[in-house]
Amino acid sequence: MKKILVTGGLGYIGSHTVVALQSKGFDVVVIDNLSNSELSVLDGIEEISGTRPDFEEIDLRVKEDVVSFFKRNKIDGIIHFAASKAVGESVENPLLYYENNLNTLVYLLQQCQEHSIRNFIFSSSCTVYGEPDTLPITESAPVKEALSPYGNTKQISEEIIRDTCSVDSNLQSISLRYFNPIGAHESAAIGELPKGTPQNLVPYITQTAAGLRKELSVFGDDYHTPDGSCIRDYIHVVDLAEAHVVALQRLIGEKNTSNFEIFNLGTGRGSSVLEVVNAFEKVSGEKLNYKIVDRRAGDVTAVYADTQKANDELGWKTKKTMEEALSSAWSWEKKVRGLK
Ligand code: NAD
Ligand code: WQD
Repeated sequence: MKKILVTGGLGYIGSHTVVALQSKGFDVVVIDNLSNSELSVLDGIEEISGTRPDFEEIDLRVKEDVVSFFKRNKIDGIIHFAASKAVGESVENPLLYYENNLNTLVYLLQQCQEHSIRNFIFSSSCTVYGEPDTLPITESAPVKEALSPYGNTKQISEEIIRDTCSVDSNLQSISLRYFNPIGAHESAAIGELPKGTPQNLVPYITQTAAGLRKELSVFGDDYHTPDGSCIRDYIHVVDLAEAHVVALQRLIGEKNTSNFEIFNLGTGRGSSVLEVVNAFEKVSGEKLNYKIVDRRAGDVTAVYADTQKANDELGWKTKKTMEEALSSAWSWEKKVRGLK
């Protein structure tokens, strides 16, 4: 049985990926420092899959602990989610982001070399495309100057991986550029658990509907889009998780065409903020309190993926709708808040 290390595996996307890996027979070991997650996520994973993954509380910034982990564990592949991800915080504290998102990557790649671990999957982001010149966005679209230190860490990370792969033919890596992940597992046993005030649209919507927030601010209705609000490609986190398993199988089966590949992970469909709000009201039966406010600095007008490459080469495409994602996000929010 292949043993896969999932870093950040108690986080939002990591926990759903652990479940997807377990369902395909992988043995999973999770590393997380609990900086943005809770130990109870292990219970949620076990509730769904019946198997509690091995877990080590390690801060990947501590190199000796990373080295010690790999001395003790024989790992066949790594899916590296662990990172800090708040765009605004990264502007205020760039060094925190450069340290957490880059040092940890370097330490892991060093261990891949040290222990001849071939398979490495990296969590990248559509943020690398900035304001795109054409839509939908293909993987060959130019990487634009980063709008934040967070976005810059994703660009630099891809460069670090590319440079390492170019001199180490034993290493093979796939960088997955996520668009906007939303939703939760249908069991409502795991989901997104933002600390403090949510920065992202869907958790803000569900917390508003649950009564934790007074109202949602819709950031701008004067964009050059059909209803004036921004357009994004919202992908169900369960579909996203499955793509990681498929990418890993591609590497293990040596079906990759180069030792560093990049794939967009999105639905290929753009939805506006107001469409998301309307869809949420429909699936939840709740009236959402919202008001239109000024644009948020740094927001791009419209972003959605060209999914052809992932469809053709990974043989993967999304199965779930935005409505299913919003409904699962709402079930999760209600469960967390103890609402009926
Ligand atoms: P998350 O914060 O829920 O999960 C990240 C996990 O990593 C957390 O459990 C956190 O405790 C852990 N972690 C952070 N630093 C660590 C360290 N030094 N050592 C050990 N563990 C550490 O975030 P997520 O939404 O699941 O995102 C996962 C990855 O996907 C990140 O790399 C993120 O940048 C990327 N990504 C996320 C989105 C999104 O919208 N959620 C979009 C594109 C890319
Ligand atoms: C979506 C839309 C907002 C909150 C961010 C990161 C990106 C990636 C995904 C990691 C936008 C609008 C939001 C609110 C609103 N993460 N909005 N009111 O900005 O597309 O991407 O998460 O890599 O790097 O930048 O996602 O969920 O913040 O916003 O109107 O309270 O919702 O303006 O149009 P975004 P988001």
